[in-house]
Amino acid sequence: MTPLTESRPLTSPAPASLLASSSEGLAEVLAALTDAVDATQAARRPDGPIPAGTPADVLAAASQALGAAELPAEGLGPKAALQLLATVLVEHGIDLSHPRAAAHLQPPALAVAVAADALASATNASLDTYDSGPSAIAVERWLIGLLTRLAGLGERADGVLTPGGSLSNLLGLLLARDAAAHRRGVDAREHGVTALPGPVVFCSELAHFSTHRACAALGLGEAAVQPLPVDGRRRMRPDALAAALDSLGPDQTPVAVVATAGTTDFGSVDPLPEIAEIAAGHGVWMHVDAAYGFGALFSERLATRLAGLELADSVTLDLHKIGWQPAATSVLLVSDTTAFTSLDREVAYLNPTDDSEAGYDGLLGRSLQTTRRPDAVKAAATLLTYGRTGMGRMVDACHDLARHAERRILAEPELELVAPAELTTVVFRYRGSDPSAADDLNGALRRRLLESGSALVGRTEATAAGPGSPKRVCLKFTLLNPTATTDDIDGLVDIVLDAGRTCERLIEEGAA
Ligand SMILES: Cc1ncc(COP(=O)(O)O)c(C=O)c1O
Repeated sequence: MTPLTESRPLTSPAPASLLASSSEGLAEVLAALTDAVDATQAARRPDGPIPAGTPADVLAAASQALGAAELPAEGLGPKAALQLLATVLVEHGIDLSHPRAAAHLQPPALAVAVAADALASATNASLDTYDSGPSAIAVERWLIGLLTRLAGLGERADGVLTPGGSLSNLLGLLLARDAAAHRRGVDAREHGVTALPGPVVFCSELAHFSTHRACAALGLGEAAVQPLPVDGRRRMRPDALAAALDSLGPDQTPVAVVATAGTTDFGSVDPLPEIAEIAAGHGVWMHVDAAYGFGALFSERLATRLAGLELADSVTLDLHKIGWQPAATSVLLVSDTTAFTSLDREVAYLNPTDDSEAGYDGLLGRSLQTTRRPDAVKAAATLLTYGRTGMGRMVDACHDLARHAERRILAEPELELVAPAELTTVVFRYRGSDPSAADDLNGALRRRLLESGSALVGRTEATAAGPGSPKRVCLKFTLLNPTATTDDIDGLVDIVLDAGRTCERLIEEGAA
């Protein structure tokens, strides 16, 4: 056995280029990316936005291309490894830059954002402590300052990046819960929800399901959510909110009103000024879920739709929706930085008091995470690159596409427009000759498009004929590709019509 005192290298020293943040390593990142890009150019791209085939076929082909799920005894080296993965990603994945990719609030990512994200990853900086990444802290603060100003939230405003809109909503409701408990003179962080008898969270019936999940996760229970009816334009009815708040009993605690600025399916924006006035009148926290809609602020044409956002106590916004960032680039803004007090922690190995007092402090106290990626870097690079005008142009381009789709759908007798283009979505149905079979037909139509690989179209359920009527299966275009053209939209509609006719024929023949 070798004596412990003997100095002997276990392996030969690794080259500096092993590590991305060294200057040799950054050159290596560039070379590796070039290899990977070469592989994507040599790869056989699917004809449409998604590979043709059943899910089982597509997933089996991808697994086969990856090979056995075993750690190789000897590594392949970066070139072969990246070329393999780049090929798998392109040949068996989705292409969001394809003009017929129109399913989800999942935009194609901007090239500059991806480049900045690679740079940020190379630093592997973290936001929790000063000594885990001062420049990352500075960039996040810069971005938060810019966004609070864009939202009009005032001088005391603050914010934090989170791993997604669902988690921004969770964090917003956590702060609301703790503020509600504080008003009752209790510390919810210490005593949990026993501090809050009969908690109630109000939102519209069209609010994103993450509000309900957040209530469950926060111990308020999903039963705490009181969904309120919407008007003919699918916006929360303020009269219903006022009545619901007025009718609360003494054993109930209103925790928050969650308004939505850009509902997932319809892009409708709740009447924020009226909701803010009612919430303030009852001393209730107003959270605005602007995960989808916030990006409308970049557009001169659409920004006024978000009037009243500046009255919120907290705001969720996702730049990985309207903002063209790789996921996740979500942000929770608060109107008053002291709201974060309930997240404060003093941890011996991270932020002891004497260090903090001497200025060696990070952003640990704004988040439920400890290690946190520098996600602000890609967004900062994007906003610096394009400015408000450039971002606004992209928003307007997508809004124009949605309006064109709306006109085209209205002009097609076989299609029924269910909801017009508020932001960048349009909801509609293929009518079919038998109304009682239309739900199945629309579901089958979408699956047919998926299986053929020709188009990615969304699906949802909505009342076709106004509030009160039953929910029906609908199709949805979510148009977030600013390089697509009206001809592309016409092509997309033609493909939907074609698939509808084929499905109807197959159903009639009993073949589907
Ligand atoms: C209005 C709204 N809020 C929240 C979310 C959740 O965002 P994420 O998917 O980033 O968690 C979505 C997602 O589509 C949304 O549309």
